[in-house]
Amino acid sequence: MKTSSVRLVNPLILVLPALVMLGWSESARPEQPLETPPVIIAHRGASGYLPEHTLAAYAMAYGMGADYIEPDLVRTRDGAFICRHDIHLEDTTDVAKWFPDRKRADGRWYAIDFTLDEIRQLRARERLSNRFPQEIEILTIPTFEEVVQLVQGLNRSTGRKVGVYPELKDPAFHRKEGKPMEADFLALAQSLKVGEKNCPVYIQCFDPDALRRLRKELGCALPMVQLISDHPMQRGMLTDKGLQAIAEIAQAIGPDKTLVDKDPSLVSRAHALGLKVHPYTFRDDQVGSGYADITAELEKFYQEYGVDGLFTDFTGTAIKVRQSVFNR
Ligand code: G3P
Ligand code: CA
Repeated sequence: MKTSSVRLVNPLILVLPALVMLGWSESARPEQPLETPPVIIAHRGASGYLPEHTLAAYAMAYGMGADYIEPDLVRTRDGAFICRHDIHLEDTTDVAKWFPDRKRADGRWYAIDFTLDEIRQLRARERLSNRFPQEIEILTIPTFEEVVQLVQGLNRSTGRKVGVYPELKDPAFHRKEGKPMEADFLALAQSLKVGEKNCPVYIQCFDPDALRRLRKELGCALPMVQLISDHPMQRGMLTDKGLQAIAEIAQAIGPDKTLVDKDPSLVSRAHALGLKVHPYTFRDDQVGSGYADITAELEKFYQEYGVDGLFTDFTGTAIKVRQSVFNR
């Protein structure tokens, strides 16, 4: 158990990036971002610059002009939905320092073994050594409610209509642990009024069973995205038959970008079924194989492949290249 006094974070640090970035982005941002494809989805926030899935990273991405803010979601022991990419905590938080005895036999700290109060005592840590300094631990782990409040609040204060793009992480694991995600998430999303006119939403998941449950069993009417990885288990989704099955449930696919590079017809075949295409993930510091730089990669996806949106860690770069390609 963590015994030291709770460290308080100056709330200003959470919004400072937004205040700073709004200053320069006000004139550069698109006037009607949601009607100007391709949309730019801030992958884990502005995670190229700040620790992923923190309010600071989300606010910075908003200020840079993102159309959607992407929180990945996992659950706590008491059922909260917190913003983490992994069901484990040790790669992106200081959990090992404060709760050394709470790891499981496999040596990992699971979010679902901690209460929200305990999660709130942790600090986020940068995942990658070449980005934000990993020793600076000043940011906390937000809940889904807090992300939505941040985006809706900024929408009101700026007059923009930025959306949220939550991903349910590993629903099968959560079900096995006695904390199924789908029904509780849908109730939460509805209570927060996501998907209503001032806060568009896409709900994404790799697990087709979870999306089907949301749509068919729970009556979810919100737009959904079937994520598709480059794993053999998911290759069937890339066939025309697979895409037809997706189109019965979802409004878009979110394929690994390498799948589009390998078969650009994926975009037109999805479009023929009414599915939008939002590939992931574009990174200035991890450019796709065969591209000279991130600009060349983004131009190819925007112009030649004709995607409807994309996930990026570097919203500013995607905005800049979109502006140069579409002149808006
Ligand atoms: O959700 C799109 C993309 O983020 C999927 O990959 O692993 O970064 O969540 P991941
Ligand atoms: Ca994600």
